[in-house]
Amino acid sequence: MTLRLTRFATMIGLATVLSAAPALWAADAPPFQAEIKARQGLMELNALNITVLGKMAKGDAPYDAAQAKAAADALAGVFALDLPMLWPAGSDNGAVKGTNALPAIWASDSDIGAKVEAWGKAVAAMQTAAPGGLDGLKAAMGPLGEACGSCHKAFRASSG
Ligand code: HEC
Repeated sequence: MTLRLTRFATMIGLATVLSAAPALWAADAPPFQAEIKARQGLMELNALNITVLGKMAKGDAPYDAAQAKAAADALAGVFALDLPMLWPAGSDNGAVKGTNALPAIWASDSDIGAKVEAWGKAVAAMQTAAPGGLDGLKAAMGPLGEACGSCHKAFRASSG
């Protein structure tokens, strides 16, 4: 009898765990969290590298050709990754948590392509200019900052 009860209790326990499992997965792992984490990490890398260049441009850090080149190369490296897998439809901030990506990115009239193109051009210009002297770096800084900023203005929520 004791054994039977124990078995029964075990069965109930197991059934509870099994029926709760899908709900737990849903709560623990909303969709696209890995993609969102990865794209935010790449954006953070952009921020680190543009800060290196920005400090030199502003005179807050001495111009260093090798360091400038490394930062510009890293920005170009992130751009070159071309990872549409990190931006799946349905991973906007209206649909899932943990992202500031606006649904407008995926709208049919979205000009995200133009923003990406401007970003690529600005990054390439910086990559050419950065190792060649402070004046060139400064000149390339404006369009680069503008490329980041104009995409954020259109497609990134300020918080969320
Ligand atoms: C083509 C559009 C686009 C361009 C260009 C762009 N970003 Fe972003 N950025 C985004 C979007 C969209 C997000 C929100 C991503 C999310 O939360 O899922 C973002 C998020 C960020 C974040 C926050 C990441 C986090 O941890 O939540 C930083 C920092 C950032 N971008 C820096 C930059 C810098 C620096 C540049 C330029 C070198 C840049 N971005 C260029 C679209 C862009």
